[in-house]
Amino acid sequence: MAKVGPNDFVIDLGSGDGRLVIAAVGTFKARGLALAVTMARHYGLTKLAVPSAGNAAGALAAYAAAARIEAHIFMPKDVPFANYVEAMVYGAKVTLVDGLISDCGRMVAERKEKEGWFDISTLKEPFRVEGKKTMGYELVEQLGWEYPDAVFYPTGGGVGLIGMWKAFAEMEALAWVRPGKRPRMIAVQSSGCAPVVRAFEQGANVSQMWQGATTFAAGLRVPKPYGDSIMLEILRESGGLALALPDDQILASLKSWAQYEGIFLSPEGAAATAAYEHLLATGFLKSGDRVVLFNTGAGLKYTDVTAEAMGLRRPAPQS
Ligand SMILES: Cc1ncc(COP(=O)(O)O)c(C=O)c1O
Repeated sequence: MAKVGPNDFVIDLGSGDGRLVIAAVGTFKARGLALAVTMARHYGLTKLAVPSAGNAAGALAAYAAAARIEAHIFMPKDVPFANYVEAMVYGAKVTLVDGLISDCGRMVAERKEKEGWFDISTLKEPFRVEGKKTMGYELVEQLGWEYPDAVFYPTGGGVGLIGMWKAFAEMEALAWVRPGKRPRMIAVQSSGCAPVVRAFEQGANVSQMWQGATTFAAGLRVPKPYGDSIMLEILRESGGLALALPDDQILASLKSWAQYEGIFLSPEGAAATAAYEHLLATGFLKSGDRVVLFNTGAGLKYTDVTAEAMGLRRPAPQS
């Protein structure tokens, strides 16, 4: 955990987050898939299938390779190139889909019975959320068993947010956390795909499918999260909110944190830092608040999409 302000912290899960087993690094998706694949192996499953926005695919491919289990991956054809390469390197069977993660999910659902695949989609099996809940345990442990005032979570399917809330309940039952108010949970999305923000603002209990989803924060490109109702309940119960910012603001925050803090955030992590800056400016956060921001991935997994967003090309060599 790095300190970035008098009271505030960044938990950087990008640089080496292959927990529990040896394999995947690079994003926090490793936490959920490490546990899910370990349990799949325990139960004797031999063929796993997943729809993915990109990073879950890489993590599944790595752990499945280590466990000698087949991984069948469906992801949008325009995922960051690193996601495609890592899945191929680990030997997964990859289908690139002309659509979004929701279309990938439909394809898995249509084929899984005939193919004998176990569907390891977010919240359709019980263990990914258990792996991701470790974020909640760790942040409280690292803050001396106290809650921060707010937690910023880049939200696609929302499993980390749901997992952290579960972790808080467990730690309270175990009396591991000092009595106090739970943190306000802040779900951060991109304005190019913000179904949770729209539902939150409308006072709805579920989200509606977001049409034409687009953002360089690829992990946030989930047009209709499966766990939306659970997330919305947590956001309201915690006194938090859901907030979306446009990609140019996310990119500006990514560049500024690289240039002034020396941290190459993932675009999803930069959505959290942009939201943090925004909520400080609006007064929603007070300067004395203690806040935790999650950088959920390594910026280096996104060199192609970040270069494109920056309009960056390799210059002609000088002779
Ligand atoms: C780097 C990164 N951050 C955040 C998310 C969103 O995670 P969740 O689905 O738990 O909301 C993803 C999802 O793919 C991701 O890859």
